[in-house]
Amino acid sequence: MEVLKPVKRNILLNPGPSTTTDSVKYSLVIPDMCHREKDFIKIMDEVREELVKIVHGDPSEYAAVLFTGSGTVIDDVCINSLVPADKKLLIINNGSYASRMVEIAKHYGIEHVNLSFPQDKLPDLNVIEDTLKKDRKIAVVAGAHQETGTGILNPIKEIGEIVHRHGCTFIVDTISTYAMIPMNINDMNVDFIMSSAQKGLCAFTGVSWVIGNRKEIEKSKDYPKRSYYCNLYNQYEFFEQGEGMQFTSPVQLIFALKQAIKEYWEEGEEARWKRLDECWHAVQKGLKEIGLKNVIDPAIQSHLVTAVKAPDDPRYDFYKLHDYCYERGFTIYPGKMFGLNTFRICNLGQITSKDIDDFFVVAKEAFNNMGFELPIEA
Ligand SMILES: Cc1ncc(COP(=O)(O)O)c(C=O)c1O
Repeated sequence: MEVLKPVKRNILLNPGPSTTTDSVKYSLVIPDMCHREKDFIKIMDEVREELVKIVHGDPSEYAAVLFTGSGTVIDDVCINSLVPADKKLLIINNGSYASRMVEIAKHYGIEHVNLSFPQDKLPDLNVIEDTLKKDRKIAVVAGAHQETGTGILNPIKEIGEIVHRHGCTFIVDTISTYAMIPMNINDMNVDFIMSSAQKGLCAFTGVSWVIGNRKEIEKSKDYPKRSYYCNLYNQYEFFEQGEGMQFTSPVQLIFALKQAIKEYWEEGEEARWKRLDECWHAVQKGLKEIGLKNVIDPAIQSHLVTAVKAPDDPRYDFYKLHDYCYERGFTIYPGKMFGLNTFRICNLGQITSKDIDDFFVVAKEAFNNMGFELPIEA
């Protein structure tokens, strides 16, 4: 990919969108093209296949169904399209993204169970098992792989084993883990995984997808059509008839996604995960040097998002920290934990541990400017 002129590089340490390469940025610039042209549909179909291959699926068995929109659109699609009439949805909820699924279910009037667990712990598998045993009306279970608000990595394979033992369908939001943590859809005990272009693949916000077993998608044909625009089966049918998306596709975003996938394969699944894991270790080192603490036990963290306890000190001001770093090219993000003062440092994008080290040089200056001597005493 020809890069005409390097674009200013910002290090995004927020939980997506993530830092992109210049070659992905430039891949947006293409000759104008109609989304119904065969040339474009062929490219979109290739992208769909690649998305399945990233999770080691066989495209004849699994299909990726793309929608225009940020990550939430695909949570919306799966929840509104995959619950049969007169059946119930169970949401395994230990954080803000599962809570959003609860909101979506409420919005569509879908009967659901909000199975809540503490936001700083893994869900209790025995409670999930008991709930499914007792409530035979539950047909679909939903949850998040990583709760991006806390950085907890949920035990999807173990939960999926229970879900399938009870004959239910399992839909999992992998928006903040896909193309980062290596995944094999064949042995994850899941039926549908959702993701989005702007996090692990380091493309742009505006395309999201679900990867599902074709037979499972086809089963949903006669389920209630609760949304006009966001129905999974309708969109699948359009793709399968060779027409692309049901409505106008984001042509340029698909080209950028194609380039980002190419760069994913060039780097390699294991090498990408190793690089991101090194970034997380650099985050842990930097936090220790400043004297800041994790909210979540590192043993249950994804190594992609770190929720940091904010200092309990009147001199601390998140926005002073944020602005100082932002002006120097580093973006950090507020926390998303109910009732706790936290902020987040995320390592999702086209960044290296050197970028993280550089960030901590700046972060330390920001703490000094707020009047702290480092390391901060607990
Ligand atoms: C796990 C998870 N699900 C859903 C979303 C929602 O995505 P968006 O804000 O792109 O709609 C996010 C975004 O951070 C996420 O991390």
